[in-house]
Formats: sequence, structure tokens, C-alpha cells
Amino acid sequence: MKIISFLYPGGPAAKETPELLGCAENALGLRPFMEAKGQEFLSLTDKERDLDKHLPTTDVLITTPFWPAYVTAERIAKAPKLKLILTAGVGSDHIDLAAAADHKITVAEITGCNVVSVAEHAVMQILALVRNYMPAYTQVIDGRWDIGEIAAKSHDLEGKTVGIVGTGRIGQRLAIRLKAFDVPMLYYDFRRLSTVEEQLLGIRYSLLDDLLPRCDVISIHCPLTPETDGLFNRERLFKMKKGAYLVNTARGKIVNTKALVEAMESGHLAGYAGDVWYPQPAPADHPWRHMPNHAMTPHVSGTSLEAQKRYADGIKDCLERFLDNKPIERDYLIVEGGKVVSPSYSYAFSKR
Ligand code: NAI
Repeated sequence: MKIISFLYPGGPAAKETPELLGCAENALGLRPFMEAKGQEFLSLTDKERDLDKHLPTTDVLITTPFWPAYVTAERIAKAPKLKLILTAGVGSDHIDLAAAADHKITVAEITGCNVVSVAEHAVMQILALVRNYMPAYTQVIDGRWDIGEIAAKSHDLEGKTVGIVGTGRIGQRLAIRLKAFDVPMLYYDFRRLSTVEEQLLGIRYSLLDDLLPRCDVISIHCPLTPETDGLFNRERLFKMKKGAYLVNTARGKIVNTKALVEAMESGHLAGYAGDVWYPQPAPADHPWRHMPNHAMTPHVSGTSLEAQKRYADGIKDCLERFLDNKPIERDYLIVEGGKVVSPSYSYAFSKR
């Protein structure tokens, strides 16, 4: 078998921090395992053309959302031996799932591996926006001390209505964490939770278009599918309350790039944060880098050292099972047997 991973370049940190398992240099800690199994294993990084060169002879491809190799239908067509695509992380939208299904390729991700990591990042970014942290930090670096400038746009989170779009593993963990801030919470998901779940999480159901004008803060946690691509379009962004904050740690394409810049530049939204972009890595001139009042990071929320350990273990588990001809963990499967089987993705693909 020829197994290839396509991972982010770790740079000098790769050597200094062996726990940085998710980088190309440390290759998810897979090298000794692959050697013991007698498999051909290659760890690739920033030269996507290298990947194209290997596609015709690759059996298993490991990719990551943080530094995605976009596994398009064209690429899949060039990989006749490809049987398994593994996502080291959560979110397999960088893979053409329909094409994978058509070619009977199994797609699996490490469900749950970084959901706490992302929920914590979302809490951090909500607070950074509402408390006006970024300009305050910048003042310190710049040697300034202007209380009025910061305090005029700094609020308590307490009492603000928070909307959660997508209440799966991450959305629910965010709700649990935000409960401590005494905020009323609304949520939208195409699958409504049970009354007991709603009560335990302290969240109330609302249709998306009703939720938008009622929230001071909205945090997005649904997958990118053909249905959620551009979900936050111009109309929906401007339907949000004036002066509200939007946080997106789900996927960049869920928010329309140009419309967001307009909502930020016009002051309709008071702040935007998140760690997901399209495309990734975001080019130096990506318009979100320079729009006002944002608190974005590169795509790092789901790749803390703890998360990397969990997704590296998960990838090893999948490979072990695959090589031993055993079924992959049911919860990890996104595409199998020619179908999109993950409950979070399948509805969007059921109509094709
Ligand atoms: P999950 O599958 O547990 O939950 C997703 C939720 O979204 C489900 O409740 C599902 O019903 C809902 N959903 C699906 N389509 C929807 C639609 N059209 N409208 C409303 N709700 C919809 O997934 P999890 O673990 O909570 O992750 C969510 C997403 O977060 C991932 O798909 C991924 O894109 C992103 N993510 C980002 C990371 C990062 O590092 N920034 C790391 C991990 C995940």
C-alpha cells in the first residue's frame, strides 16, 4: 500500500516540539507504525504539485483541514487506486464528497477529536470582540494609554443574547461553557434537540432568520455543505442586529467574503472573529485580513497540542483497522459504500 499524508509545515517548531504531531515533519507520529507494518509512507507538505505526482499510485491519502489539499473531483479522477481518504481533524469539506462516493472511496475523519479545542477558541474570540480586546492589546504594544478609546466600545457579555448555529458536538460544548456567563441563548440547527437537551444546555430553538435580528453575538458551528455554502450571505448578514458580533470557527465559505467586508466596513457588524478562511492558507491580500474590527486567527483552533494527539491517535486507529481489514469506527465515517453517511452531511447530499 502507498499511504500519503499532506500536512502543514511545522518549521523550526517541528524539532523543538515533538508533540507537534500534526505537521509534515512529525507526520502524526506515524513513521514507526508504518515501518512496522511494512507500508510505503510519504509525508508531503506545501508543494501540491508533489501530491498530484503521487495521486495515480496512492492507496490512502491523509489530509487536514488546517492546511488542506483540496481533493477535488479532478484529483479523485486521477487517483484510480485511492480507497481511503482520512481527515486528521474534523470537517471533510475540502474533499469532494460526492466524487469520493461515486468512486467508492471511503472518507473518514476523527470525529470529536478537537471539539473542546474549538469551543474554547470560540469563547475566547467572543470575549475578545465583546470586551474590545484587540485594540486594547495593540495600545499596549504601541506605548499608548487611551482608556476612553477602548472603553467606549467595551461591553460585558452578561445579559447579551447569544445565537449558536449548529448545535452538534462543538455548538453544545460552547453552550455549556457560555452558561457560566449568564447569557440568554438561542440556537438553530436543522435537527432540533430534545426538550431535555435544550433545558440542560439552557438554549431555546429558533429558525435561522428569526434568530439573526435577536442576537448580540452569533457563533457558527455547522459543517460546510452545499446547503451551508454562503449561508451567511449579504441578506442574512444585514438581517443581524446592528452592532452585533459574528464568530465563525466552522468554515470560511459559510460566510460570503465580499458581503462580510461590506457589513464590517459599513459598521453594521461591530466585530468578526474566527479562524477559518477560503481558500486556505489565506492569501496575503485576502480581504478579511484588513477589514476593520476583526479578531481572526489562522486556522488553529482545532489543532492545539492536545487535539493533535487525539487526531494522530485516531488516524493510527483508522489505518490499523484498514490494514487489518476491520471496519473503521462508525462515528468517523463520512462517506462509505458509495454514499455520504455522516448524519451531519447526509441531508445536504441526499438530494443529488
Ligand atoms: P457535528 O457533526 O457534531 O455538528 C454539526 C451540527 O451542524 C449538527 O448538529 C448538524 O445537524 C448541524 N447542521 C448540519 N447542516 C446544517 C444546516 N444546513 N443548518 C444548520 N445546522 C446544520 O460537528 P462538530 O464536531 O460540532 O463540528 C462542526 C463543524 O466545525 C465541522 O463540520 C467543521 O467544519 C468545524 N470545525 C472546525 C474546526 C477548527 O479548527 N476551526 C475543528 C473542528 C471542526
